[in-house]
Amino acid sequence: MSSQPHHPPNGFGSPPLAVVPATGEGIRRGLWLLCKDLPEADRDGHLRRLREHFRRSPPGTTGILQAQRGQEIVGAILWTVYPGRTAVISAPGLLENEPLTTARALFRGVVDNLANTQTRLIFANFSQDQGHFREPVEEAGFCYLARLLYLFSPVADLPNSSEPPKCDLQFIPWPQVEHGDFVQIVEATYVDTLDCPKLNGLRETEDVLAGYRAAGVHVPDLWFLIRFEQEPVGCLILTEQPDFDQLELVYMGLIPKYRGRGWGKDVVRFAQWMARHRKRAGLLLAVDTQNTPAMRVYRSLGMQPLEERDVYLFNLTPRDGGTYPG
Ligand SMILES: CC(C)(COP(=O)(O)OP(=O)(O)OC[C@H]1O[C@@H](n2cnc3c(N)ncnc32)[C@H](O)[C@@H]1OP(=O)(O)O)[C@@H](O)C(=O)NCCC(=O)NCCS
Repeated sequence: MSSQPHHPPNGFGSPPLAVVPATGEGIRRGLWLLCKDLPEADRDGHLRRLREHFRRSPPGTTGILQAQRGQEIVGAILWTVYPGRTAVISAPGLLENEPLTTARALFRGVVDNLANTQTRLIFANFSQDQGHFREPVEEAGFCYLARLLYLFSPVADLPNSSEPPKCDLQFIPWPQVEHGDFVQIVEATYVDTLDCPKLNGLRETEDVLAGYRAAGVHVPDLWFLIRFEQEPVGCLILTEQPDFDQLELVYMGLIPKYRGRGWGKDVVRFAQWMARHRKRAGLLLAVDTQNTPAMRVYRSLGMQPLEERDVYLFNLTPRDGGTYPG
């Protein structure tokens, strides 16, 4: 398989760039481009996960856009649409020597392709060694949202008791709660939040919940309304990540008047206990690094940093009845 372009990209005589949906051989080539820059030890595993992702995704919910010069495929990007009218895109995979304007064209291509669909928000997230995509993604109209830190509690750090750790809170599984009450509490926890505050108000709560449901394998009994003396005070949303043998804390929140009592720690301890109770190898979560209260809670419980990723957002919601901002 050739990894070098046969022409100087952007050079004199270089064929113009076209961005089109990949099919057949283009998909195979695109997947290879998306994985080729990964460390050798990770490459095969990632390629396998991407193929599996394609196999499992309902028709029309995932695809690859390819950038081509003449007959040659020089770049690719993966997009996936999730419930809750959001889409997530990968970092582009580019042939060596291909300029970053090709990345910009791929970002823009995704936006144009999703503009006439139900999708409202497109997220891109990059690891720290993909920082060179910052400029092209912003030139394509995305804005910086947050830096996320992924934290992990390995099984050795999880409470090993048959009963949940003692605290003043009650965790009521979602199936035992009125749907409207649950939505109301989730919304109340967004007030004065430091958790990706730029996202606040951009989505309807039902869309946010649909997104939470689509993270991992949804188990209704792992969504909890939190009560203190019969009063609802917050929520905890966990999901199974069987591919990684982990439980993930997707979201937790307390209503403002119940913050500052040390309950955040009680909520995370309960989540850690649940991971052990369900015989998982650990508890995973991502936190906005600017969210100091949450960061302090997680670090005080010894959660270990895995990696940081920068998240960018394109808002496709039409403004003032016009078209999407571009
Ligand atoms: C995250 C959250 C559950 C923590 O609740 P909590 O346990 O009541 O948190 P506290 O108010 O006790 O704050 C925790 C720590 O951060 C500190 N802190 C609180 N607000 C702070 C601020 N604005 N700046 C700096 N530090 C702050 C507190 O002093 C405390 O430190 P300490 O443990 O060393 O004493 C709560 O803030 C919340 O619901 N936020 C909105 C939703 C959210 O961000 N969820 C996290 C999603 S990942």
